[in-house]
Amino acid sequence: MNVSIYETDKSNIGRAHELMRLAFAQQRNIINPEPGIFQDTIPSLSSTIDRGEKRLIVALHRTRLMGCVLCGVNKDNPAEDFYFGRLAVRPRYFGNGIGRELVDEVERLAKEEKFLRSTCAVRIALRQNIAMFERWGYEIVGEGTHAGFKEPTYYKMAKNL
Ligand SMILES: CC(C)(COP(=O)(O)OP(=O)(O)OC[C@H]1O[C@@H](n2cnc3c(N)ncnc32)[C@H](O)[C@@H]1OP(=O)(O)O)[C@@H](O)C(=O)NCCC(=O)NCCS
Repeated sequence: MNVSIYETDKSNIGRAHELMRLAFAQQRNIINPEPGIFQDTIPSLSSTIDRGEKRLIVALHRTRLMGCVLCGVNKDNPAEDFYFGRLAVRPRYFGNGIGRELVDEVERLAKEEKFLRSTCAVRIALRQNIAMFERWGYEIVGEGTHAGFKEPTYYKMAKNL
């Protein structure tokens, strides 16, 4: 699928929020806690963009939003690590390479800005996603636990740029 990938301003956050909810909907009954996007609101995402904490990358086919991702400096290691999250593709178009193109663009930005690693967090229960990121050059470098949970709920994954 031919898509244009680029960074955009917060004017697109409403439809990005909608697409993220659509993409993560099928995980609502699989992972606990449910995907973070269901706690996010359009104003909460807009304000992280206003504060410069997050940037929005979109994938468009003509004018239609096909995928999107949020990225920014990783607060755990701001000097070296870039972070992306809420990676989402329109479900009917899963498996067409759009997710990979979005991650490629995040990595390109991170490299351009002299970060040493691209990082993300992936739920331990989502084995397919972990395997996908491993194929894309990421490795598990740690784990984390959501507030209120006793056992780790996600892996921290990183790729050297
Ligand atoms: C994860 C996600 C962003 C991937 O986007 P995508 O456009 O389908 O990704 P791509 O087509 O670039 O690559 C998908 C990879 O998974 C593989 N795959 C395995 N099962 C698949 C399935 N059921 N559907 C599509 N791809 C599948 C493909 O072979 C491909 O692997 P490869 O790059 O090694 O060939 C998308 O599936 C999505 O939005 N999922 C819901 C939200 C989510 O889980 N986000 C990630 C949070 S960590």
